[in-house]
Amino acid sequence: MLKRTVTCGELRKEQTGRAVVLNGWVNRRRDLGGLIFVDLRDRYGVTQVVFDPEDNKELFAKAHKLGAEDVIGVKGVVRARPGDAANRDLPTGEIEVLARAIEIFNSSKTLPFLVTDRSTGLEDLRLKYRYLELRTKELQHNIALRHKAAQSVRKYFNSNDFFEIETPFLMKSTPEGARDYLVPSRIHKGRFYALPQSPQTYKQLLMISGFDRYFQIVKCFRDEDLRADRQPEFTQIDVEMSFVEEDDIMTHTESMLKQVFKEVIDVDLDSAFPRMSYEEALLKYGSDKPDLRFGMPIQTLNSLAARTAFKVFQNVIESDGTVAGICVPGGAHFSRKIIDELTTKVQGWGAKGLAFAKVTENGLESGIAKFLNNVEKDLIGNFEANAGDILLFVADKKNICYPALGNLRLAVAKQLNLIPANIYKPLWVTRFPLVEWSEEDQRYIAVHHPFTSAVPEERDLMKTQPEKVHARAYDIVINGQEIGGGSIRNHTPEMQSEMFDILGIDKAEAENKFGFLLDALAFGAPPHGGIALGFDRLVSILVGVDNIREVIAFPKTTSAASLMDGSPTAVSGSQLKELGIKIC
Ligand code: AMO
Ligand code: AMP
Repeated sequence: MLKRTVTCGELRKEQTGRAVVLNGWVNRRRDLGGLIFVDLRDRYGVTQVVFDPEDNKELFAKAHKLGAEDVIGVKGVVRARPGDAANRDLPTGEIEVLARAIEIFNSSKTLPFLVTDRSTGLEDLRLKYRYLELRTKELQHNIALRHKAAQSVRKYFNSNDFFEIETPFLMKSTPEGARDYLVPSRIHKGRFYALPQSPQTYKQLLMISGFDRYFQIVKCFRDEDLRADRQPEFTQIDVEMSFVEEDDIMTHTESMLKQVFKEVIDVDLDSAFPRMSYEEALLKYGSDKPDLRFGMPIQTLNSLAARTAFKVFQNVIESDGTVAGICVPGGAHFSRKIIDELTTKVQGWGAKGLAFAKVTENGLESGIAKFLNNVEKDLIGNFEANAGDILLFVADKKNICYPALGNLRLAVAKQLNLIPANIYKPLWVTRFPLVEWSEEDQRYIAVHHPFTSAVPEERDLMKTQPEKVHARAYDIVINGQEIGGGSIRNHTPEMQSEMFDILGIDKAEAENKFGFLLDALAFGAPPHGGIALGFDRLVSILVGVDNIREVIAFPKTTSAASLMDGSPTAVSGSQLKELGIKIC
């Protein structure tokens, strides 16, 4: 075998005259001026190989047959390219290798799409041939960056005394939140393991075992509706620490993220990430994951709105609703059509309508401006609006008004290109409610998860007004994406049982589902807490892509299928019989 002595990315002018062997794939073959040029590609780069008939006829004939993605070995001599033939865009662009021998390891069938241009294949086709798509420059880059990020994470935790400890993939099913993926047991017919939605209970048990500082880069499995930022199996950077409070976890998370951003994309994140309460995030950004890369905060306008003569506003205020708005810089040029489109959008988010007023040198201008006369100055002052801006208002129930304006803020920012590229705005969101009422389940459900503890000074409210209690929970948000979440846990059986009570999990059910944890908490469980970061989402931000599929080697489609191997598939009758399972 012609075994490589150098990679396709490393030759420079200084190596002129050297005999080398390269291995790689034919990126492109060009027949030009009696010569054949082959761009040979591997993970490290591309090197131009030249076949000259004057030099070797037989070799030239072989080269003539080379097709895209054939995988070959080439022996040759490095020579400088003539000045005008140098390619400044390519690190190896100043040299080429004059071929002296070639070995074709394997030829390639005609490709379903060009590896040099992904847009030649639709996404489904590319997913079917994912191993080919992984050869593209983009995905080679993304996967390399993912690797770098993972190593940086490991380095951080290792140098801070964290142990990386594996936890089981086959565990007890205790669905809370998403649905479990179940695995039938052959030995115990009719019984099932679940794949972990996260290692939450195990990492708490590891604290009880005294391991003190744990981390793991680990696969998690959730059977939930998928979106651009959700996969049925995804990876977490999972962390847990003993004898800690919120700040300890947050400080380590910040230091780790700062190191990763610096080492992977050479970005210095500002020290001490800002913090915002959940309440403030909702009121100012209409979201529990505000994107702070741009302004346009929401202003609540109830007292001003009550003073206007606009019936829509008055009615909403009278029925205990909210009037709020945003000021879009430079939005006064919005046409009727654009405003109608925005109105349809907010209606899609449940709001009844969208009112607007353009800001001019002479005050507000719009169909409803005449009703706003007596608050015109205050409105403009509140928003610090300038001529050329537009004010957009939604009047509705609080839980409709703010999210609708939050979504509108994002949509308008995208439309007007107000979101700067290549900046990173991390934010801690804190003071989440402990529980919220679920109309669907007719019970309280945990906002984070059932192991999260309550703010101690509000524990008296737990029995009477649990929805008023705040959790010792925190989310880390970057550029409007929830990158991670965690909490300080219930570390005594009493605290944990109290939470189960609120969630309507009775003693028998608690014992049945979480008996092992309640038991363990009774054997000297230390105060502990932790966090988990969505590694795929983090890498997608580092890479600068919207869909986490772009940073996962073998992702699933939005219908949780793998187009490459066709999974999920039916299995044979004998496999089912062995498991004691009948499909109905
Ligand atoms: P949580 O459920 O908030 O917390 O998950 C932590 C982070 O994991 C990411 N994430 C996902 N990424 C891709 N696809 C998915 N389907 C998906 N689901 C979640 C998000 C999220 O912020 N055990 C707790 C953490 C703790 O309390 O320590 C947990 O799993 O970025
Ligand atoms: P109407 O009086 O219903 O014709 O509405 C006058 C303007 O107010 C229109 O531009 C509507 O889109 C807008 N509007 C109606 N209801 C609301 C609402 N709940 N919040 C904000 N604007 C609204």
